[in-house]
Amino acid sequence: MRTPYYETTIHKQIREKREDRKERIRTDIERYGDEVLNSDEMKEAFSQTHHQWSTVGEHTLRVAFASLMLSYALKKLDIKVNIPAVVVGALCHDLGILGRKEKFISAKEMSREHPKESVTVARELVSEMPEKTEDIIERHMWPAGQSKAPNSIEGAIVSVADKYSAVKDIVKGSDVKKTGLKYLARDEKDRIRKFLKGKM
Ligand SMILES: [Fe+2]
Ligand SMILES: [Fe+2]
Repeated sequence: MRTPYYETTIHKQIREKREDRKERIRTDIERYGDEVLNSDEMKEAFSQTHHQWSTVGEHTLRVAFASLMLSYALKKLDIKVNIPAVVVGALCHDLGILGRKEKFISAKEMSREHPKESVTVARELVSEMPEKTEDIIERHMWPAGQSKAPNSIEGAIVSVADKYSAVKDIVKGSDVKKTGLKYLARDEKDRIRKFLKGKM
């Protein structure tokens, strides 16, 4: 027989802390990433498969989540982190991959060139690019390939979050894996909202 679960005070505190952190992440992503979240590119991102079972959109949001978790941890250690730059950098870092079949002739070329393409997309979407953002995006592939190493703490955060999230994309999968559908015809805004609420 299953033992009934009684929430202790400590469990309650942990749960509330987690909820507060999710809320903080949600607020930061929506506050600084509004232009990117509401773009056609972001919509399209949920239709393009990425890292085997995921989509560019889901991966993008995972990277933003993980980047902010790291940023808050560093801030607690009194390390200054530019949050708007982290959010915009994370949300735009892979948008240059969109339409990859038309843009790149090989996987190798895509891996090398998509960061520059992502900078171009970011410039189009974001009216005031936070300082450091272009470098964050351009160097996010490090240490993979021939990418230059990040030149800011924010760049290092997004690079690490990107690798962590890529593993999570593959292990955790997504609706693409569950349904076997390559291209989902759902309302992407709803998907973004669900993700921001931690339901994906
Ligand atoms: Fe990338
Ligand atoms: Fe990525």
